[in-house]
Amino acid sequence: MRTLVIGKGAREHALCWALSSTTRVSELYCAPGNAGTAGLARNLPLDPFDSVGIISAVRELGIELVIVGPEAPLAAGLGDALQAANIAVFGPGRKASLLEASKAEARAFCQRHGIPCAPTVHFSPATGLGDLKAYLEANRGRTLVLKKSGLAAGKGVLESKDTGELLNFGEAVLCNDELLAEEYLEGRELSLPVLLTEAGHLPLPALGGHKRALAGDRGPSTGGMGAFSPLPFASPELLAQIQKDIIAPSLEGMAKEGLLYRGVLVFGVMATPAGPRLLDYNVRFGDPETQVLLPRLEGDFAALCAAISRGGAIPRPDFSARYACGVVVAAPGYPISHSRGLPVDLSALGGSVSLGQPGIELGSDPGEAGAKALLFQAATGRDGEGGIRTGGGRCFTAVGLGQDWSKARDRAYEVAGMVAFEGAWFRPDIGDSVFSAGPSRS
Ligand code: GLY
Repeated sequence: MRTLVIGKGAREHALCWALSSTTRVSELYCAPGNAGTAGLARNLPLDPFDSVGIISAVRELGIELVIVGPEAPLAAGLGDALQAANIAVFGPGRKASLLEASKAEARAFCQRHGIPCAPTVHFSPATGLGDLKAYLEANRGRTLVLKKSGLAAGKGVLESKDTGELLNFGEAVLCNDELLAEEYLEGRELSLPVLLTEAGHLPLPALGGHKRALAGDRGPSTGGMGAFSPLPFASPELLAQIQKDIIAPSLEGMAKEGLLYRGVLVFGVMATPAGPRLLDYNVRFGDPETQVLLPRLEGDFAALCAAISRGGAIPRPDFSARYACGVVVAAPGYPISHSRGLPVDLSALGGSVSLGQPGIELGSDPGEAGAKALLFQAATGRDGEGGIRTGGGRCFTAVGLGQDWSKARDRAYEVAGMVAFEGAWFRPDIGDSVFSAGPSRS
């Protein structure tokens, strides 16, 4: 099966790695890809927003399946264009993408279908700043969460109790977008990917992560600074409650409104003492969550994606009992503004990693099968001398794997520390707040 992955992040490097490990994929392409995907797939210099160019490449190369990684091309209608051209696609059309691309639409959807969320107030540019000022004044001293309605690569959220900071953020958003103000929810956050077709759905393992830039979950919001799986507090009881309160009514609502699609829908959930609350929907695989999910998948990822894109029964995949910890290595200045084009030295990790093969053997551990660690690249490119250069804010995801959490964590940090470029940094505490209670698991 000739397969094309759209995107250039570490998520897409992980998707290409999982697809290239199966015999089912005869030719693998990535558009536009990065220096890592080039070691596993043929990179095509196509713009993910150029649906005409993508369709013509798909026809010319006989590509049978397109998997869309990022949300923005889906929100721009790439899924619809591929479907209209009769090309099998993993990912929704524009209308369903609004569940992610418009938080205002998503909240309205939740209200229509009784899906529990934080109490939310909606402000539009037309209402002006007056209403926001009055709301902030009435809630002075309370922690509030302000969210830009449209896509913002995870950065359109501010959690604060500082009225001045909230007002500045809200004013900037209201220049060109709608704004949501939500009550701050206390609880434990998790991410639940659910594979989806018009005919059925299948939840995958729950994932944890950290969205704030700095240790202790402080600092500005990011697309995600790390992720981990399995998640010790995701008990069968909690997952059953999320299924009943959130997943089932969401899918029923989508069916009623003609929004079901073939792909993955990720439920961002806060488990609060009063029950689970939906934080957001993502209509594609998460980044960096995918980088810790796929290394635990046992079985044929290509077969799974192909079955979903055909709308058939979803095969139930197995996941290994190993722990996975993913640490994002970021560029200096991220997430505010970041340098690009920094030369990267991966030589400490060995030649094959520099060539885009993510697997890393770290020492020997008799009895432990499989790679001990992986390094996924994001938006990297090659310079004139063949060296690797950074291209984005979140430049790499170092993933450690192990039979227990501390091994997975130590390995992730060992690899993250070997990724060398000027100003490289990462959060030092991925998973600590969750696993400090001990490695109990469900
Ligand atoms: N890590 C969250 C996201 O993929 O948007």
